Amino acid sequence: MDNENSENNKNIEEVSDTEENKFNYNFINTPWDDRTDRSRITAIALLVAIIVATAALVINNLVIHYKDFHYESFLNNTDIDCNVVKLEDYPYIARIHLISSNELVCVGAMISKHSVLANELCLKSGPIRLRIGSPTDPRCKKGFSVNFMETIPHNGVITKHLVLLSILENMTGCMKSIKIGLHLNPQKNLFIIGRSFRGGRVLSIQMAKYVKEDVTSVELRNLSKNETIAVTTFGKCPVRAGDLLVQRGLLLGLASTSVHKRETSKTVYFANLSTARKYLNLLDAEVRFS
Ligand SMILES: *[C@@H]1O[C@H](CO)[C@@H](O)[C@H](O)[C@H]1NC(C)=O
Ligand SMILES: *[C@@H]1O[C@H](CO)[C@@H](O)[C@H](O)[C@H]1NC(C)=O
Ligand SMILES: *[C@@H]1O[C@H](CO)[C@@H](O)[C@H](O)[C@H]1NC(C)=O
Ligand SMILES: *[C@@H]1O[C@H](CO)[C@@H](O)[C@H](O)[C@H]1NC(C)=O
Ligand SMILES: *[C@@H]1O[C@H](CO)[C@@H](O)[C@H](O)[C@H]1NC(C)=O
Repeated sequence: MDNENSENNKNIEEVSDTEENKFNYNFINTPWDDRTDRSRITAIALLVAIIVATAALVINNLVIHYKDFHYESFLNNTDIDCNVVKLEDYPYIARIHLISSNELVCVGAMISKHSVLANELCLKSGPIRLRIGSPTDPRCKKGFSVNFMETIPHNGVITKHLVLLSILENMTGCMKSIKIGLHLNPQKNLFIIGRSFRGGRVLSIQMAKYVKEDVTSVELRNLSKNETIAVTTFGKCPVRAGDLLVQRGLLLGLASTSVHKRETSKTVYFANLSTARKYLNLLDAEVRFS
């Protein structure tokens, strides 16, 4: 060992004596066996630093990517059991993102070529941008800005208004509108489609059943019975304000409550959209009812 080392050291001394070699054998391309201990340590330290920096970048990216990811829900499995569907299959759903953080705050429904119906809560967190249609289609990917907005009075369980967002841009190819259903069939299943905890790439979906519940007794506020639709859910997805209530391809309601802890309550309340018909007709003549 000693011998080898002294040999190496000697070699390097010899090498560094000549000018050309000094140039040729710099830190980068000195053969491993020719390095001094210090050079080896520096080389190893450099490698470690590169690995650590790369790992830090990767982890940082993961953290950014999963910023919305709720670790507790992940452990608990409730959200994991929630069924999800692809965005592409629901072209009448608009995703409402915050401009500042790009966070998905709500979903809304395209009820005509240029109008999105949403819950007023969706606008409370700051300026928004709409994403509609396939996230990979370049026409749709860039998103759409809201040109103007109208409020529609609605005496819901936690909110007092719905909002109608108007987009002037041509969204052909990105969206399809959904008709508003005037008659709920209590015998048939309902679907709740909404914002998924997995972020903006999928939507949550679960079945629900209409409950003839005296909604006036549920909350202290005076609610008109017709204005609120109460349902119980069979799925394990949380329901967020603004989620859509759909039956046979018709839009019946927008969630007016947010249910995060599914264990405490299985009943969810929706704004009955047929009570908003008059306003919707006034604001956008292209909204269709069935
Ligand atoms: C997880 O779910 C169980 C019921 O499935 C519930 O009792 C518990 O409080 C939940 N824990 C968290 C952290 O949400
Ligand atoms: C919207 O765009 C589509 C094609 O992208 C075009 O066919 C249609 O005429 C446009 N509509 C308007 C009103 O510009
Ligand atoms: C509920 O409505 C009735 C009449 O419609 C009114 O007398 C009462 O004060 C209202 N209660 C609340 C809590 O608003
Ligand atoms: C509720 O709807 C029923 C018919 O479905 C109607 O007769 C009644 O007038 C409505 N009530 C209100 C307050 O709109
Ligand atoms: C929704 O409102 C309409 C019109 O007021 C009413 O006829 C209908 O019964 C309501 N639906 C529910 C489920 O309360």
